[in-house]
Amino acid sequence: MLKGKEIILGVTGGIAAYKAVELLRLLTKAGANVHVIMTDSATEFVTPLTFQTLSMNPVSTSLFNLISEREIGHISLADRADLFIITPATANIVGKLAGGIADDMLTTTVMATKAPILVAPAMNVNMYQNPIYKANEEKLKSHGYLFVEPAKGMLACGWEGEGKLQEPRVIFEEALAALSPKDLTGERVLVTAGPTREELDPIRFISNYSSGKMGYAVAIAARRRGAQVTLVTGPACLDEPWGVDTVQVVSTENMREVVIKKAAESTIVIKSAAVADYRPKSRTGEKIKKNAEPLVLELVKNPDILGELGKTKGDRLLVGFAAETGDLLANAAKKLMEKNLDMVVANEIGLEGAGFNVDTNIVKLLFRDGRKEDLPLMGKIELADVILDRIVEIRKQARGARC
Ligand code: PMT
Repeated sequence: MLKGKEIILGVTGGIAAYKAVELLRLLTKAGANVHVIMTDSATEFVTPLTFQTLSMNPVSTSLFNLISEREIGHISLADRADLFIITPATANIVGKLAGGIADDMLTTTVMATKAPILVAPAMNVNMYQNPIYKANEEKLKSHGYLFVEPAKGMLACGWEGEGKLQEPRVIFEEALAALSPKDLTGERVLVTAGPTREELDPIRFISNYSSGKMGYAVAIAARRRGAQVTLVTGPACLDEPWGVDTVQVVSTENMREVVIKKAAESTIVIKSAAVADYRPKSRTGEKIKKNAEPLVLELVKNPDILGELGKTKGDRLLVGFAAETGDLLANAAKKLMEKNLDMVVANEIGLEGAGFNVDTNIVKLLFRDGRKEDLPLMGKIELADVILDRIVEIRKQARGARC
């Protein structure tokens, strides 16, 4: 995800400095080349050697000297940086940056960079609420600085409240967002994901193998690209994506109720959920007891949510998925037309590396204008971006046609 990206990680002196180590690990694991700059006080909390070992780059502290300049070349580093992250950011560093102070390696390099700057503050709740701090933060925001606001919780100083450094995974997510094109800004995207469950009795249900990975990847990628995202998900063992409005549902009827309501407020709908087409005709309130007789289940049809959305499509951009075990293209093309879709993402269930509960997928894209596109095996987050790229292209074509 971050291969080839140059990131500068500024660490200042707060007890949360240890969390910067976890963030560094996430960044390097995603392929970024990270240079760490520490303030003097940061070195009181975590040693430079820790960061040097993990980043495999020399770490500079606030001792501004020509040797480190020659070794690291901070000004050239500032020029090459794709992103600058300051984590944790103390009230002091925010104040210095807002005041244009450049008296050490960190503030000098920030002053020299043209890269986006992502600031993750962490401090005592009273400091965080101090109007002087707030004015400094607002000033930096007015100059385009990005902030990952602190979480609420028990603070190291014993106070409870806002000021706790956000989790590294959240800061990492915001870093990815800062590096993403904002070509979905203004779009309200509704994504469905995961399986549905149709209960037989309080203990048993009918479901499928969907893990939610595909839909969650689409929701995450859309948010990074500036969209306002709602994710309607069946039961899935995945963290709710940061910055996404997630609604948990269970049955197809549950999902339909939420999706029809949310779709009315959406400009793009992407339906990757594996929705049960049938449910038991009757559901008992008690556990079905086994006996010598075979158990015969009568199933009745569930609502076709995508089909219903297709009937009231309007200007909304509608993307469906097709999960097939044969005649993939023919079945997908049928869905494309019958459900009035703009695009269908077709995946062959049973194909190695495709479909349910794997981190990759192999799909064919079919478009309303008859075009087809075969995509190779790729990660679901990478595929999510390709799906969104095609949606942006459809949008542009539609706008071009109107002009
Ligand atoms: O979640 P993962 O483990 O990552 O797996 C991803 C996936 C395999 C679930 C995903 O890539 C996928 O194929 N999702 C669609 C699964 C599905 O239900 O396909 P379908 O061909 O049965 O349905 C066609 C379309 O109609 C889908 O967009 C589905 O959301 C929708 N549908 C289906 C039935 C129904 N009653 N209402 C619907 O809206």
